[in-house]
Amino acid sequence: MKKVLVATVKPFASEAIGRMRAVVEAAGYELRLLEKYSDKAELLAAVADVHALIVRSDQCDAEVLNAASELEIVVRAGAGYDNIDIETASKKGIVVMNTPGQNSNAVAELTFALLLYLVRNGFNGNAGTELLGKTFGIMGYGNIGMHLARIAKGFGMDVMGCSPTLSPEQATEQGIRYADGPIDLFSSSQVVSLNIPGNRDTRGIINRELMMMMPKCAILVNTARKEIINEADLEKVLEEREDFRYAADVAPDNRELLEKRFPGRVVFTARKMGAQTDEANINAGTAATSQIVAFFQKGDATFQVN
Ligand code: 3PG
Repeated sequence: MKKVLVATVKPFASEAIGRMRAVVEAAGYELRLLEKYSDKAELLAAVADVHALIVRSDQCDAEVLNAASELEIVVRAGAGYDNIDIETASKKGIVVMNTPGQNSNAVAELTFALLLYLVRNGFNGNAGTELLGKTFGIMGYGNIGMHLARIAKGFGMDVMGCSPTLSPEQATEQGIRYADGPIDLFSSSQVVSLNIPGNRDTRGIINRELMMMMPKCAILVNTARKEIINEADLEKVLEEREDFRYAADVAPDNRELLEKRFPGRVVFTARKMGAQTDEANINAGTAATSQIVAFFQKGDATFQVN
């Protein structure tokens, strides 16, 4: 009998687990849970005899993959798979998949929650500003970007998008303006939302030069990965520009320093929580289990990323 382990430091909502269990058990497999673990040794022990593994942002490095001698497939229930050692997985013949699009709306909604918090001064009662008529730039126009564009248009914002895979024609079809690269996007948008993947190519690319280019009363929202921001540059920009604000659910390492130095101009959530809704958990979790069942039963590797 195939054993499917769900290993999540940040657990799925209980309804999601119920639905995931139903999918796995209907296929005749066993679902195991390792939630809120604090010690890597727990994960290493739990993966020892499982055939499939479902994770969220949990670190799946070579040590974890090497400890899982029966492992055939890892599904990252979510979009970004920078937490999985793809090279080692590929060498070991382990299939890696993600569940693209399943948690995108949740991330897009959190972006606007953070944005509204900042433009309304943390709801402290003082006069803030409005979103209507402002330009909203989406850096990385994928599944989340499409939801962001829909919401931003609802606020009456002018939407711009920038992505290596977005053509001017596609932008027109999507009803947004095409940005010809990050410089065009940052220099035109009062608000920029970062939605690019975290990898070697994107590490630290959001730098002082780009942030300084943003128009007056700039707000940068990062619900992607903390590594894409040059943190020293972010601190410099907040120092040099009193009109610059920053929000993230992926807090930088210098979070406490920034909160102390720039109160009211930075906001960070308690933990990474863009995808943390019942709906996103159900969508991503059940997609992960269905993909595993389809892989074992039919060899379906549709969402394979390695
Ligand atoms: C993703 O890549 O899908 C998001 O960053 C969500 O991450 P999470 O599953 O850890 O909330």
